[in-house]
Amino acid sequence: MNSVHEPINTEALGDCESKSAPQLPFPIGWYSVERGRNLGPGEVKPIYAFDRELVLYRTRSGDLAVLDAFCPHLGAHLGHGGRVVGDNLRCPFHGWVFGRDGNCTEIPYCDDIPSRAQLRSWPVSETNGDIMVWYHPQGESPAWEVPEVPELADDDWSEPQYWEFTIPNHVQNIAENVCDPEHFQYVHRQQNTPPNEVTLADDGRVLTLVAEAEATDRNPANTLTAIVHNPGLAIVRTHYGPGAEMLVYSTAQPTKPNETHMRWSLTVRKEIVDLAGDDVMEGIKSGIMDDYPIWEHKIYREKPVFCKGDKTLVLFRKWVRQFYL
Ligand code: FES
Ligand SMILES: [Fe+2]
Repeated sequence: MNSVHEPINTEALGDCESKSAPQLPFPIGWYSVERGRNLGPGEVKPIYAFDRELVLYRTRSGDLAVLDAFCPHLGAHLGHGGRVVGDNLRCPFHGWVFGRDGNCTEIPYCDDIPSRAQLRSWPVSETNGDIMVWYHPQGESPAWEVPEVPELADDDWSEPQYWEFTIPNHVQNIAENVCDPEHFQYVHRQQNTPPNEVTLADDGRVLTLVAEAEATDRNPANTLTAIVHNPGLAIVRTHYGPGAEMLVYSTAQPTKPNETHMRWSLTVRKEIVDLAGDDVMEGIKSGIMDDYPIWEHKIYREKPVFCKGDKTLVLFRKWVRQFYL
């Protein structure tokens, strides 16, 4: 049989391309693990984040702690049957008690506490309604704070609507969308690529995108400003005109190397709450659904072939490097 192809030179094929090829590590930063309102005083929850088992609890006085989940004694999971006693967490198996700093404070049947009886304690912050955990691969302390979003607690703005969804891809790839103006035409069916600009704050960490979008069948003309504090932690403000503004606060929980759970809080200026109503949320949801098939099947290209039109993507890749060791 004749073939139009030359025989394939297998040597030139390079590394195997598949979704199971080595993935990116998790980037340094703040990530959500739960909504604050879903965890009352004295409650304990198992958490899966950064490909690890963790335990989250709230003391009776309202403070939070996130610890590694497996007891240093015989390995019971503290998130399954662990009990809050005062400020501490008691293991369900033999009753060893751990403080918020992860140190064992009590063994009910022994006065001598081994020095290695401790769990890793993760920095935690309850901000904008989300319980946020600081991830650093070597356990270093937070290098920045979670930004406050005043609109989420402002009387001139609507009660936030909450939405959560899981995306089968790495948090960096999801964040990259912000700096990808060209995909709006192809994935989101916009007429044109919106004029846009990406800038970095003085210290280079906070990335801001401003885009001017034309009216579409789904949306009136608007100016969108997205401020990204670390991959997955973003504040997106959309300005439609005087008194007509919307805000989406987005936090991410990297669960597995290729899976991210997103938490969104959406609020609008009260002037447009009846006008915008549920349609706005539905429009945003369908926007995410447009991206979903791409995220579900794409691989991560460490060295993409970029063209001269990919300036903001190139900037994103340079920016994101600072979140890895
Ligand atoms: S396994 Fe936790 S106290 Fe024994
Ligand atoms: Fe998108």
